[in-house]
Amino acid sequence: MSLTDTLKWRYATKRMNGTKVPQEKVDNILEAIRLAPTSGGLQPFKVIVIEDAKQREEIFNNACQQPQIKEASHVLVFAANKKVTAEQVDEYIELMAKTRSISVESLEGFKGMFAGSVAGSAEQNFVWAAHQAYLAFGVGIVAAANEKVDATPMEGFNPEALDKLLGLDKQNLGSTTILTLGYRDEANDFLAKAAKVRKSKETLFDIR
Ligand SMILES: Cc1cc2nc3c(=O)[nH]c(=O)nc-3n(C[C@H](O)[C@H](O)[C@H](O)COP(=O)(O)O)c2cc1C
Repeated sequence: MSLTDTLKWRYATKRMNGTKVPQEKVDNILEAIRLAPTSGGLQPFKVIVIEDAKQREEIFNNACQQPQIKEASHVLVFAANKKVTAEQVDEYIELMAKTRSISVESLEGFKGMFAGSVAGSAEQNFVWAAHQAYLAFGVGIVAAANEKVDATPMEGFNPEALDKLLGLDKQNLGSTTILTLGYRDEANDFLAKAAKVRKSKETLFDIR
């Protein structure tokens, strides 16, 4: 299937049927998320992967009353860093030096590009980190479709309640989005056969 056909196949699934997604497919989706580009490559976020039914029920009861939370196979929570720290930048620079067999010293200039973020306010940092988490989230949406796994991108939840429930508030993290993974319940999903609503090319693109 072409990428265009895959993107036409996918839709924000409203009802899922509880069928488990094979681990290999989950792993492929997570790997795509891991490989997503981010500004400077810092990846200032974490993705919490929840399969456990009890935990998903707790999320449903306390932070997100959407049925897919309970009907999905896996729930991914994209949580962005609240503050970009000097330690986090050092860790990244060390990882880059090790991965590319170069010295940490040779990366001093590159490291400087994060100085503004480290010195910036938590509010600015979180907005920037959330942008990066959204990119990975978008890649995850496409990767799921590529695996013929249904997914629901979600912003409709209570982030404070979710952060508390998952202990993210104690880990310099704030939840930004949820991606449920599973399989569509065609009989009960009013959107399963609905046509895609998108702007026309002429409206969306300003081709010069
Ligand atoms: C960032 C984001 C947040 C969304 N939040 C929700 C949500 O909380 N619940 C839901 O059922 N759909 C949610 N959606 C799904 C959108 O409504 C859907 O993607 C859009 O209408 C386009 O339809 P399609 O994805 O089926 O093509 C969200 C989508 C995105 C990208």
